[in-house]
Amino acid sequence: MSTIRDASLAPAGKMKIDWVREHMPVLNELAKDFRQSKPFTGLRIAICLHLEAKTAYMAKVLQESGAEVTITGSNPLSTQDDVAAALVADGITVHAWYGATAAEYDEHLQKTLECEPHLLIDDGGDLVTMLHTRYPHLLPQVRGGAEETTTGLVRLRSMAAEGALKIPMMAVNDAYCKYLFDNRYGTGQSVWDGIMRATNLVVAGKTVVVAGYGWCGKGVAMRARGLGARVIVCEIDPIKAVEAVMDGHTVMPMLEAAEYGDIFITVTGCRDVITREHYVRMKNGAILCNAGHFDVEVNKNDLRELAGEPQLVRRNVEAFEFGSKRLYLLAEGRLVNLAAADGHPAEIMDMSFALQVEALHYLNTNYGQLPNEVLPLPQSVDDKVARHKLAALGMGIDKLTPEQEAYLQSWK
Ligand code: ADE
Repeated sequence: MSTIRDASLAPAGKMKIDWVREHMPVLNELAKDFRQSKPFTGLRIAICLHLEAKTAYMAKVLQESGAEVTITGSNPLSTQDDVAAALVADGITVHAWYGATAAEYDEHLQKTLECEPHLLIDDGGDLVTMLHTRYPHLLPQVRGGAEETTTGLVRLRSMAAEGALKIPMMAVNDAYCKYLFDNRYGTGQSVWDGIMRATNLVVAGKTVVVAGYGWCGKGVAMRARGLGARVIVCEIDPIKAVEAVMDGHTVMPMLEAAEYGDIFITVTGCRDVITREHYVRMKNGAILCNAGHFDVEVNKNDLRELAGEPQLVRRNVEAFEFGSKRLYLLAEGRLVNLAAADGHPAEIMDMSFALQVEALHYLNTNYGQLPNEVLPLPQSVDDKVARHKLAALGMGIDKLTPEQEAYLQSWK
């Protein structure tokens, strides 16, 4: 039995899924083989991901590859109720709805684990954490899982360091075909999609402050520049800070940047990146948003302490007023690209989700032989996804001649 908001929304969700399917050629190529060979027959797969159309399409591919699929959302504001309804109409069990409270979110994850999975996909680490802390009796039958995002891997590596990780976990985020494209170009585009949909304001001529210059931050800063903004980068890592300078951005601490920014975007994965000491220095009308996994980067308690309860002035825009100024927070400080837009473009999630399906296949075919550690995807999987992507783009590449191969192996 599913737990969703409104089953009658299924036709709208189906249209969204049909649209992305046509723009996910790499996943379609894998699906062709897997629909035939059905490698997941008899297996239950539990998924905790942002429940929008691309995710739904991957869930359907896994179902068509033999699995019994149960899915929940990895963020209370990223679930799209029509997409959830379309999946239920197709026989997938869903426990999620848009705007879930903390208690409902927790309950949705619990129900998802109660399918007693053999394989898992997680985004951010909540499902795997709950499995280990509250459902340890299920661990022996879990063949492994795959983690989608940087934050989830940070948590998994902390678990592994304490000896607490009891299943093999594939680090999908660390594959080249994931972070080079999803984190950089995906976040770079979808964050601006979210900000523009939420505000309907111009970006050109504004000063954009990007906190965090990892792959996601690089993408967000690059696209801000393309939209005509001046970009200030805030970092704690001196090497990344120099990289930002060489990429043409200005670097300074947040305390200084606070005075200049028109739009602030946090992409650090850490907490308390923007706090009271920054709010009091900001310009009237400054816009704040977050693209990191959890809503802890823009400190909302400090905003409330300064300004009291906010006023909703537009869908996904809350105004916090104090003194003679207003600061605007987008999407409650949750992932702006998923809460105020549809997440990364389909052609990007195509590669990420092809890697996810391949990761589960790898876990299954190597069942019983993998250590309970955070594991890299084999290079061959990354190469396979890149080759399918090139084929989908209609582009070829060169091949080394035997003479060139010999040359590259010689040293005299
Ligand atoms: N769509 C589904 N999962 C996503 C993610 N982790 N980031 C952006 N868009 C997504």
